[in-house]
Amino acid sequence: MRTLVTAALIYSNGEIHLGHLRSTYLPADVYTRYLKSSGKKAIYVCATDDHGTPALIKAEQEGRKPEEYTRYWHDRDEKEFRALGLDFDVFHRTHSPENKEATIQLFEKLRENGYIYQKEVKEYYCEHDKKYLADRYVKGKCPSCGAENQYSDQCEKCGKSLKVGDLIKPRCTLCKKEPVLRESEHYFFKLSAFSKKISAWFKKNKELQQDIVGYVKNWIKEGLIDWDMSRNLKWGFKIPGSNQVFYVWFDAPIGYISSTKKWAKENKEDWKKWWGKGTKIVHFIGKDIIYHHYLFWPAMLMGAGDLPLPTKMPARGFLNLEGQKFSKSRGNYVSLKEYLQKFDPDHLRFYMTLITPNANTDGNWNWKDFMSRVNSDLIGNVGNFLYRTTYFINKYFDGQVPSFKGPGDFVKKWKQEYRKVTGHMELVELKKGLEGVLKLSGMANKYFQDNEPWKLIKNDKKKAGQILGVCANACKNLCSLMFPFTPFAMEKLSKEMKTKIDWKQADQFNKTWKISKTTPAFKKIEGEQIKKVMK
Ligand code: 2FM
Ligand code: ZN
Repeated sequence: MRTLVTAALIYSNGEIHLGHLRSTYLPADVYTRYLKSSGKKAIYVCATDDHGTPALIKAEQEGRKPEEYTRYWHDRDEKEFRALGLDFDVFHRTHSPENKEATIQLFEKLRENGYIYQKEVKEYYCEHDKKYLADRYVKGKCPSCGAENQYSDQCEKCGKSLKVGDLIKPRCTLCKKEPVLRESEHYFFKLSAFSKKISAWFKKNKELQQDIVGYVKNWIKEGLIDWDMSRNLKWGFKIPGSNQVFYVWFDAPIGYISSTKKWAKENKEDWKKWWGKGTKIVHFIGKDIIYHHYLFWPAMLMGAGDLPLPTKMPARGFLNLEGQKFSKSRGNYVSLKEYLQKFDPDHLRFYMTLITPNANTDGNWNWKDFMSRVNSDLIGNVGNFLYRTTYFINKYFDGQVPSFKGPGDFVKKWKQEYRKVTGHMELVELKKGLEGVLKLSGMANKYFQDNEPWKLIKNDKKKAGQILGVCANACKNLCSLMFPFTPFAMEKLSKEMKTKIDWKQADQFNKTWKISKTTPAFKKIEGEQIKKVMK
């Protein structure tokens, strides 16, 4: 069995902030690291989502070409993501030859199978700029709540989704003149033809997130509307035989496939195996793109006919900062870049996992809570145990892990909890998984504390060795179990301890070996650091 993990492709038109990480990119990485460290075949596929009007408008505002503008963000995003330890097997772009080819192929297949048709629709046109004005090129007053300066596709104030012609006093965002309405022929995808098939798939696939399936079923009941998948724009892939380009949401998910192809080519793998029988496909997404992933994407795959459907689509909610929505203009905002300049990537990974259950509920980043969880749970519990055990072995046994027997009870309890943790990880219950690992570490700390090896060392070195042998094996195991969550520290520690990261062996207590000097795995967060970011 193979697992192909993806994280929703990030728009290449702005900074990554902490909210992006919680819903999508971090859990996908933790999950893939878990799979790989358990010896399973898995890859983590991601890319930038380069097309669409927001990127084009921003590029134009900066006087740059959209190719170049989105490439800048692609390169910067990849660098920042990797600095957080996101270990993508591939981080490609949707504006790539591979994606162009895959998009056209899928489109042709859908057309052959009768799921594409053309229809005349009204569209805004600017007679001054001589261009059709898609989505964000038009602003005006929302007919529903009266808010000024809203885009033509959705009012950000009241959330209402708008059609062409709805806006009061529409204005071209380029020249501020009033656009006219023109008829233009668009391509539509017959989403409405898939209601039954998608409902049947929901019934069959119990691995889909059930709370979400519940309300997507209601959307189906209300009736699915065919999807306008073309745009009169200069940025995007040209639809064969037309002057229009594909709507960004058409070629974006195809990026999952084309990025896999790119990886396969570079790694001498067969991409079809990874998009075929025997592969589980797991898409991590944020709650705002459920419609696209639970409806559009499976319908596209079903319509093409020869591609596997997603196995799981874990969706998580938004992140607040100190109880308030993220907002750059109001200053309630932390970019990944800023975070990385000030704090440790492992600390973010640890805390973020603890505040992210496997559900589409929102979460909250609180700096004081961040400091206290890191200092007490990560450092006081895990770090402390790892360090004092290895320190003792180095100091009193010259780094040689003493041989030992038993102890039955402790190992039995460890194995029980370990099985639970593994079960959680399989179900993408990453918060519960981490909490289970913390429990194991707590058990190990208690074992050390109760047996007082620092006292035994003076008059019963053999007994002290027994205890430390068990503890050293617990360290080896914890190192594997913490690895998906805090990979930087655990990689360093596994080198110092001369152990291998191997989740499957993390319930075994049977090794003696020689370790070398260790350094504390984590560095404490100081109150001063927190004061500075809270301003
Ligand atoms: O909402 C977003 O951020 C989109 N860029 C996600 C695309 S996911 C996939 F379909 F490519
Ligand atoms: Zn204009």
